[in-house]
Amino acid sequence: MQRRPFGTTGMELPEICFGTMRFAAQEPGDDPRTHAGKRALEEALDLGIDFVHSSYEYGTRWATGEVLARHPNRDRVRHIIKVNVPDWGEPTFEPADFRGQIEDALRELHAERIDIVQHLQRGDIDRRLGYDDRAEPRRVDEFDAVLDPLREVAQRLRDEGLIGALTTFPYTVGYARAAIGSGAFDGVVAYFNLLETEMVEVFDLMRERGMGFIGIRPLMAGLLSDARIDRTALPPGDRMLEASWDRAYDQLAEARTLVDPHIGEGGIAPSWTSFALKFSLIDPILASTVVSINSPEQLHEALSALEGPRPDPDLLPQLHRITARFRDEHGVRADGAGVPQYER
Ligand SMILES: NC(=O)c1ccc[n+]([C@@H]2O[C@H](COP(=O)([O-])OP(=O)(O)OC[C@H]3O[C@@H](n4cnc5c(N)ncnc54)[C@H](OP(=O)(O)O)[C@@H]3O)[C@@H](O)[C@H]2O)c1
Repeated sequence: MQRRPFGTTGMELPEICFGTMRFAAQEPGDDPRTHAGKRALEEALDLGIDFVHSSYEYGTRWATGEVLARHPNRDRVRHIIKVNVPDWGEPTFEPADFRGQIEDALRELHAERIDIVQHLQRGDIDRRLGYDDRAEPRRVDEFDAVLDPLREVAQRLRDEGLIGALTTFPYTVGYARAAIGSGAFDGVVAYFNLLETEMVEVFDLMRERGMGFIGIRPLMAGLLSDARIDRTALPPGDRMLEASWDRAYDQLAEARTLVDPHIGEGGIAPSWTSFALKFSLIDPILASTVVSINSPEQLHEALSALEGPRPDPDLLPQLHRITARFRDEHGVRADGAGVPQYER
């Protein structure tokens, strides 16, 4: 597994980060999917994928903790966790809540340190708007009040050796600009895949400031994998049949005119899963991509997906023109925005 620098933090991260959101049942139990996921995490750690993403919200920390508790490479693992303060309905940033989420994670993950904190500011905004562009002005306004106490508590936790880098999870480009401009963050963590290219608009700004970038959901929750690329072939009940994904499939149809020639015979990737994973690391600013791995088979597929040539960097601005046009026409991101993504 190749490693890449995370901005100027000095951290070298593996290209793939193990995302734990989908690999286990929400409660301990005898779910076969959980067994497959736990075996995948064990094997990933054996193979040196020492970078794990988690959140208390996924309800899968119990299983992550069970694997880590007995794994010999536990102390080498770098953790990235999502920390939501203020959360929905909370009007102010409470440093004790921030510290509490860090301390809970350290205990549950059997870790000494959280290497990367991914800060998400929700707040007392209309939850139905979620994080979409209509909610952005409100979140940006409230960011000013969040900044000082966030900086202060993060510095204290750093001095205590409990956390490393502080990053922002901005959701929208406008919020990203405000967060990057504040100088409080070492990097940005955001969705990044063939259909969610928005953050390319702030790559130069990040580079100027020596910031790193970690992409999330390279397969766009599975839509860009071979199993879901053809929507007409999905089994009843699949999450991608929900109306909220219509817009993403519409955008995909346009993106395919640029992408199809690169996949299969004569292309640089044998499959959609492979191409999408390669694309998610298309710019050197990307240190790692956080992918949900639910079984040993998916782990091996993801590892071999990254072998061989990588896409031409020119593809990014071309695809971003499609992303931007869809955003301008529909006013929301490709996933329909609004609804918190971890619920999808
Ligand atoms: N708010 C947040 O901070 C936030 C939000 C979303 C995600 N995340 C993080 O990002 C991670 C990834 O998110 P995601 O699951 O939405 O998107 P993703 O990684 O782009 O998509 C993963 C899905 O792709 C499918 N897949 C097919 N082949 C695969 C292969 N070879 N390797 C891996 N997956 C394959 C799997 O579907 P099946 O379900 O059929 O197995 C899997 O659930 C999460 O685990 C979480 O750690 C964070």
